[in-house]
Amino acid sequence: METKILTQESVADAARIIKNGGLVVMPTETVYGLGADAFNKQAVANIFRAKGRPMDNPLIVHIGAIQDLKKVAAEIPEKAIKLAKAFWPGPLTMVLPKAECVPDEVSAGLDTVAVRYPSHPLAETLILLSDTLIAAPSANLSGSPSPTELKHVIDDMNGRVDAILDGGSCEVGLESTVISLVGDVPRLLRPGGVTVDEIESVIGEIEIDPAVTDKLKEGQRAESPGMKYKHYAPQARIIIVKGSDEQYIRYVNSREQKGVGAICFDEDAEKLSVPFFSLGAKDDCQSQAKNLFSVLRSVDEAGIELAYARCPKLDGVGLAVYNRLIRAAGFEVIRLA
Ligand code: TXA
Ligand code: MG
Repeated sequence: METKILTQESVADAARIIKNGGLVVMPTETVYGLGADAFNKQAVANIFRAKGRPMDNPLIVHIGAIQDLKKVAAEIPEKAIKLAKAFWPGPLTMVLPKAECVPDEVSAGLDTVAVRYPSHPLAETLILLSDTLIAAPSANLSGSPSPTELKHVIDDMNGRVDAILDGGSCEVGLESTVISLVGDVPRLLRPGGVTVDEIESVIGEIEIDPAVTDKLKEGQRAESPGMKYKHYAPQARIIIVKGSDEQYIRYVNSREQKGVGAICFDEDAEKLSVPFFSLGAKDDCQSQAKNLFSVLRSVDEAGIELAYARCPKLDGVGLAVYNRLIRAAGFEVIRLA
């Protein structure tokens, strides 16, 4: 398949491709998404094929206006309305009871549907012009880090989709926060750009699914199917090193050899004697979120086989950075302190 690279002037062409049942990679403020008409079963099945994604991992339906929520959700609790008003358009996905019109291919047979209204102007325009809603997972090959730059999308999706809409670099850099509003107490399934504190300031206390920070135990059911897969992982082995600045530097430098690298903070860089890839300043979770997936791809491009990573803070957007990095590391952690 020949893949067209389209700029924003050609967004109407991209919308036509969606209408005709094709696949279009669209930029969003979180990561690039691999989109198709959410109501076209064949087009949705093609998303899974293009990504190599297991069919039991459901997709997010992207809407272009808050009112579209009622097209896909069978029930809209008060808290969902509050969250929509506070955070949409933006990096928040809500899981709600599914309306019958949403194909099982989108929800992977669940009776719930995940919905998000992205704030990237090109995504919004594409959804509105395509005259439908757009089902889209992140536009990476299944298992790889999500794409936050056009180059990442081309590396993974060239020849697998009809078109890629160029929107430059993604602002947030990590996928949206996913919250389920199906049970009595809202439950965070995946941390992202909208933080737990921000959500709680609007709807009160929420639960945090244990899979956000910890590995699922043998036989434990994944609340969000995506959580059970090895994720966001580069080819290189990643190990998170917990400890003070000095402990981290000393430990990593003592491991210096060919193929060993560091995923560090800006402050560590000049003290390291191995090749390093900085996530950003130690206290700047926003930059760490924006850079993480690029860093993971760069580590592979540099031929690093083992990278020792600093542990991000677990609050604010840091929780989302940690959630992705711990999965990239396959939950491998060294504790020096
Ligand atoms: O920021 C994002 O959310 C990006 C952009 C493109 O919008 N999309 C994205 O999609 O990250 P994906 O498919 O890579 O991740 C969606 C996550 C998966 O972990 C999936 O299992 C979960 O949301 N999910 C989708 N539908 C669900 C449902 N009905 N119940 C529970 N989890 C669901
Ligand atoms: Mg994904």
